Amino acid sequence: MTSLDLRIATKTQVADGVVALTLEHPHGGRLPDWTPGAHIDLILPNGLTRQYSLCGDRWDPHTYRIGVLRELDGRGGSAYVHDVLAEGDTVAIGGPRNNFPLAPSERYLFIAGGIGVTPLLPMIYQAELLDADWHLLYGGRTRASMAFTGELARYGERVTLAPQDECGLLDLPDRLPQGTRVYCCGPAGLLEALERRAADWPAGSLRTERFVAKDLGTPARDEPFEVELRRSGLSVTVAPGQSVLQAINDAGVGVLSSCRHGLCGTCETGVLEGEPDHRDALLDDAERAAGDCMFVCVSRSRSDRLVLDL
Ligand code: FES
Repeated sequence: MTSLDLRIATKTQVADGVVALTLEHPHGGRLPDWTPGAHIDLILPNGLTRQYSLCGDRWDPHTYRIGVLRELDGRGGSAYVHDVLAEGDTVAIGGPRNNFPLAPSERYLFIAGGIGVTPLLPMIYQAELLDADWHLLYGGRTRASMAFTGELARYGERVTLAPQDECGLLDLPDRLPQGTRVYCCGPAGLLEALERRAADWPAGSLRTERFVAKDLGTPARDEPFEVELRRSGLSVTVAPGQSVLQAINDAGVGVLSSCRHGLCGTCETGVLEGEPDHRDALLDDAERAAGDCMFVCVSRSRSDRLVLDL
């Protein structure tokens, strides 16, 4: 993965258990461009790589901002950011990459659960710039745990804050005003509740972003399958229990990867023939049905053979 070393310009506590980092080029240069919904990989000196949504000003070419929740049952990535990284330190990043882009619309409903507010902040900024009609429904454990509420205050009634200890669970809509696009990021329970509501909404109304992998369930087939790497002129057999990514890399054809949980989008690969068994948390129903790309860290095959653009 190509990476860029950035300096931590500021580290600020923005809510209970949440710090915001601003990152800048050590020599003050421009940073790679990004769009609302994008994330970066934070490549930590302890060997862990974590994805964080960019939540700063998309039009500021010199600074990235991320918000990091301390994950109490995490594997040490967020604890490292909270406890070890300090202003002035250098940290490597990969990306930015956008798996959660904001599609044009006249009306948006943004729904955030906890730290899931981060990718939505630049979307809100863009919706404001474009004079779109929008509303944010923002839930969290407690008011003190909800980051960036101060900067959201300027939007007045467009923002509904719903701390769970005061208001209970978020009041999700059954119906949508015509032409509304819904963007939601938050914990699995919130996304699953919203996906159930969305069954009655027009197709394509809902886009979600997960920060933990879905339960992958059982693969569509438990036998080996063949993967042809068309441009490399190689074929590999993927055994049950082995990922397509692993089989490809074992064959000496490098595919970039980062999260290895179907969350970050790094390993996206074109599919030329065959039917993928999509097991990622990135593609929507229409993209899955198109069957022309897959995330080889988790997705497998429904057909005996897949032909990949590698
Ligand atoms: S490596 Fe992150 S989606 Fe495959």
